[in-house]
Amino acid sequence: MTKFPCSDHFHSFLKALPKCEHHLHIEGTLEPELLFALAKRNTITLPEWFPPTVEACNKRYSEFADLQDFLDHYYVGMSVLIHEQDFYDLALAYFERAHRDGCLHSEVFFDPQGHVERGISVDNVVNGLNRACKDAAAKFGTTSLLTMCLLRHLPVSSGLDTIKSTEKYFESGVISGLGLDSAEKPFPPELFEECYGALKEKFPKVNLTAHAGEEGDHRYVTNALDLLKVTRIDHGVQSQHSPELLDRLVSNDTMLTMCPLSNVKLQVVKDVEDLPYREFFDKGVSFSINSDDPAYFGGYILDNYVAVHTRFGFSPKEWCTIVLNGINGSWCDEKRKQELREIVDDVYLKYKDVL
Ligand code: HPA
Ligand code: ZN
Repeated sequence: MTKFPCSDHFHSFLKALPKCEHHLHIEGTLEPELLFALAKRNTITLPEWFPPTVEACNKRYSEFADLQDFLDHYYVGMSVLIHEQDFYDLALAYFERAHRDGCLHSEVFFDPQGHVERGISVDNVVNGLNRACKDAAAKFGTTSLLTMCLLRHLPVSSGLDTIKSTEKYFESGVISGLGLDSAEKPFPPELFEECYGALKEKFPKVNLTAHAGEEGDHRYVTNALDLLKVTRIDHGVQSQHSPELLDRLVSNDTMLTMCPLSNVKLQVVKDVEDLPYREFFDKGVSFSINSDDPAYFGGYILDNYVAVHTRFGFSPKEWCTIVLNGINGSWCDEKRKQELREIVDDVYLKYKDVL
């Protein structure tokens, strides 16, 4: 299904573009090697059904039946994260890996309820992640923001408690956004209207997003926009089935944070070629390309770019537009956006005559 080969030059071009990642669950970057090392360090016994070796994990991770099948592994995986240092190690490993791919700005999701319900303090989680964000900036020159996600399979009361317990981090700006993840279909966005409303009332400048239109249909996207007042949609693939919704995304410049390899691994589509990238691009729907849970889905951000290129063959100019849309849709400040835009121009000039 490789319709458009990705030459070495084109690969270098995609790597050199100053990419932003907006859809990345830090718990989904837990590579099996680190998972087993942390299980040993923290004397955690994994359930008997969990794949017992790195090789067995990689095999099982290549055959998820759907989102829930993946989530069952993901929640067991995160059970090895206990101490602040574990969260730091996890996040720093991601930032190092993303930097190698030419990702210069990351907006990182984390799932506090997945840790707090195991008795881990939310401060361990946030402080470990925040320290890694700062160290990554110093070491690699990359920037990052943290977005807290609510687990939609848990009750609204748990979401409200989670918001209460993290208010000081929203106040200080350590956490800059709220998202919604986990099992989509049985837990539609409208259930969480109160959580989103409460946070927005207290912190009017907070950034809001939600997973919608991954397994749920396009009405999940519309309801997330109407009721949760999100300004971004995570996944959003199913928006393709509503022309009115696509028009709305274009006119409001709402970015979809799309995850091609994830969509294949979770059986949303058979192949990346079945995703609506060309249609969205031609219509002016803004999207970014992201890895979602790279340790589970077999590819980091550059692998996802290459997967899209080999199916859709976007031109160098079109790739610059895709990357610029991602920069413009980011939640970092204007100064950082301008730095990144200038790198796009430099990379285009460097590569345009050799591609
Ligand atoms: N969808 C929903 N919830 C998730 C995902 C996802 O792709 N990854 C981690 N939690
Ligand atoms: Zn996701």
